[in-house]
Amino acid sequence: MTILVTGAAGFIGSNFVLNWLGSQDEDVVSLDNLTYAGNVDNLSSLSKDNRHFFIKGDIGDSKLILSTLKKYNPTAIINFAAESHVDRSISAPDTFIETNIFGTYRLLRSTLSYWEVLTEKQKKEFRFLHISTDEVYGDLDTKAPPFTEENRYIPNSPYSASKAASDHLVRAWNQTYKLPTITTNCSNNYGSFQFPEKLIPLCIINAINNKPLPLYGDGKQIRDWLHVDDHCDAIKVVLKSGAIGETYNIGGNIEKTNIQVVHSICEFLDNLKPRLDKISYAQQISFVKDRLGHDRRYAIDASKIKKELGWQPKETFESGIEKTIKWYLEHDEWVKNVISGDYKKWVDNYYP
Ligand code: NAD
Ligand code: TYD
Repeated sequence: MTILVTGAAGFIGSNFVLNWLGSQDEDVVSLDNLTYAGNVDNLSSLSKDNRHFFIKGDIGDSKLILSTLKKYNPTAIINFAAESHVDRSISAPDTFIETNIFGTYRLLRSTLSYWEVLTEKQKKEFRFLHISTDEVYGDLDTKAPPFTEENRYIPNSPYSASKAASDHLVRAWNQTYKLPTITTNCSNNYGSFQFPEKLIPLCIINAINNKPLPLYGDGKQIRDWLHVDDHCDAIKVVLKSGAIGETYNIGGNIEKTNIQVVHSICEFLDNLKPRLDKISYAQQISFVKDRLGHDRRYAIDASKIKKELGWQPKETFESGIEKTIKWYLEHDEWVKNVISGDYKKWVDNYYP
């Protein structure tokens, strides 16, 4: 058995491939077009693993996708490939529309051509698992219950709107053409290999480099945090036992304001790697201009996946954030490599 993982050189995709090959004996074809956010080094520990194949390519390249599908005969496609950073989607939405909407559309079209000529048995076993976000549900009132799968889609950023569009396309390919798709909508992830434009790795790296820890607006926006290992386990459970045509919300049940998150990072760092002057890293916190259209709160009700498939997260925020901070402290070469080039240009422009 072989699976095809798209966006496999990104944060969650690479964690998923490593998790998959660490826990089962099925081959993985990793496909990624290596945008600024894709890093083949994330998969370098697999360089001698003959169960792993890497292909540099775009999900929108139908010829390449179809020949890859025919060559490797995967039983599932897990689609992580996307443009994923909200701030970039605000300043440069084009690639979000191109990859998240047109790319997903073309990937669905190629997958359908492949799936239609499989045997009946293979057709039945095949899955197209689309990885999406809780941001499609929009802004949650402070007192409202967390998002269930029944919430309306009310996306507010170009990123979440493009992901919402891709979710709708996936649904349509199931309803119309009977392609066996499943969609997962997950809350904010954190953990190893996350590109340091996102809040948690940005703050860890800025802290130890004596740079400001930028909090947008009043810093009281709420996110529901999930450690990436828990997300990968949830995806495996959905792939194995999820029902075709269904969607599953995945979340950590850990709602925190951004200020709380950044203070936690500072406290762990104060113990793990105190500043030379012994003052807390918290003094580097700096309140900056708010994000345009900034959603105030996201929170996931993950009771469906718990009840129907028996998944629930294992990490607490404390265990997960400590593991994550230690990973960044131990991987300064990885950090050095990713914070050069395009990353540097983005940060210099965005946080002048
Ligand atoms: P990421 O930006 O770290 O990785 C995305 C990967 O996709 C990169 O390796 C990039 O090179 C690749 N890619 C982009 N365009 C491509 C294309 N056209 N063809 C092939 N590859 C392409 O993102 P991530 O945080 O790992 O997110 C992965 C998926 O999970 C995304 O779909 C995202 O919407 C979703 N998600 C992310 C989070 C989160 O907190 N990070 C939460 C919920 C859902
Ligand atoms: P982010 O990691 O970009 O994820 P998302 O926007 O997908 O939720 O941001 C998480 C939260 O942190 C969000 O409310 C925006 C905020 N934030 C800051 O306050 N400062 C920053 O420098 C960044 C990158 C994000």
